Amino acid sequence: ELQAVHGLERGTLKIAGVTTTEYFIAQWLSDYTADHPGIEIELAVENRDAVVRYLTNDEIELAVMMMPPQQLPLETLPVMQNPLVLIGPKDHPWSKKSRLTRQVLDGVPMLMREKGSGTRLTTQAYFKQYGLDLNVRATLGSNEAIKHAVAAGLGLAVVSLHALAADPTKDGVAILPVTGFPIKRQWQLVWRKDRRLSLAARRFISDVRGRYQLSRSANHTIA
Ligand code: PGA
Repeated sequence: ELQAVHGLERGTLKIAGVTTTEYFIAQWLSDYTADHPGIEIELAVENRDAVVRYLTNDEIELAVMMMPPQQLPLETLPVMQNPLVLIGPKDHPWSKKSRLTRQVLDGVPMLMREKGSGTRLTTQAYFKQYGLDLNVRATLGSNEAIKHAVAAGLGLAVVSLHALAADPTKDGVAILPVTGFPIKRQWQLVWRKDRRLSLAARRFISDVRGRYQLSRSANHTIA
């Protein structure tokens, strides 16, 4: 529990984020630390399944993810849009088109994240929803591995826009304008309703609420 020692709040913030949060969560932690310099931060970065496990086992108090699980009693705070884009190698002919139909994806070699990834589930759901054949050429365990493999021409992939540089061609990839993309998702800050949160966690929630919360009206269905 947080205590004031010599006027400084002390304690530990235990938080986990799914893989793509590593591209932006440092800024949140830095803002938080500026106001609460005595609090130590423990951040775990894992895929969705692992983050759900941490929440289930009380190994963390807060999590940042796009697909909060239904089976836990969770409070959710929508914080930022999380567009999921389709990427190919930077010289891919589709990158020069203005729009392509979904059918172009039927049977195309795709690179997928590992089982347990929410991005993988969302990609599978897209193909299933439109009756497209999902041809998995390779499964890779990180966003960086996916980007490098896409750049090398191994296949196409779906990734969060937050995993890309402002200029994706710097990573050797291009966003492909296929109908239905970007898939619209949101980042949510989540915590268990049935637990008493530490002061460190409560301070983090109010910090994020003040700086990054999306209006509830901007909300949309979470898969
Ligand atoms: P993941 O993240 O693909 O790293 O699991 C997406 C999510 O589930 O929020």
